[in-house]
Amino acid sequence: MIEAVTNEENFRKFYSSLEEPKIILIAGKRRSGKTCLGFKFLETIQRIRDLDAYTVGFPLKIEGIKNVDLVSKLPSDCVAFMDEASLLNIGYSSRRSMKTRNIILGDILGLASQKGISLIFVVQNTGLLELNVIRQADCLAIKEPSRFQIMTERRFLKDYFKYAKRVFSGLDEGERVKHAILIDDYYTGLIKFTPPAFWSEEISYAFKNVNLK
Ligand SMILES: Nc1ncnc2c1ncn2[C@@H]1O[C@H](COP(=O)(O)OP(=O)(O)O)[C@@H](O)[C@H]1O
Ligand SMILES: [Mg+2]
Repeated sequence: MIEAVTNEENFRKFYSSLEEPKIILIAGKRRSGKTCLGFKFLETIQRIRDLDAYTVGFPLKIEGIKNVDLVSKLPSDCVAFMDEASLLNIGYSSRRSMKTRNIILGDILGLASQKGISLIFVVQNTGLLELNVIRQADCLAIKEPSRFQIMTERRFLKDYFKYAKRVFSGLDEGERVKHAILIDDYYTGLIKFTPPAFWSEEISYAFKNVNLK
């Protein structure tokens, strides 16, 4: 379950908006629950839209979820999840922005809504993503920010991260992984979620044996 902590009516509107293809970005410090929230959105949107669910470049096989190694291999009408480690692993970071794959990523995101693809992206810091990728996002979910997050974030997003930092500092430490700040046209505020049914600590550590290229 994903639920609103503040305005339930607006959250219902957000929930309905997931019926349409949407690009959701998730950012926050290490071990803040980004991957778990990403898969929660994948599970939720798969149910709402009744479409196939995909991971992109994910090193672990998960029951009921297909995997492709490139965003360009995603079919039309699906919901897909991409984690930061696969971004680095397959060369999608802004540090390699000249790479064809990166250009393809920007293009695919641009086409995502036309192709009916709901996309979920996880990064520690949005500075790792091409501006073009951030530009396409419809929704930002902020998990607990890291010590230096605000100073190192993309300038136009800093106020949101400051807001998130303030809200998270008011939560008990054990509660923080269960929450996120959502910035969306329909709902802006705190949300709470439980892990998806298929969640395991193995998924949380899926990239531990992957060598960064
Ligand atoms: N909603 C939640 N409820 C309970 N535990 C959670 C929740 N979200 C994440 N966790 C736990 O927090 C830890 C970090 O989660 P993970 O998603 O792997 O973080 P990240 O991807 O940010 O490094 C894991 O042990 C995970 O099981
Ligand atoms: Mg993770």
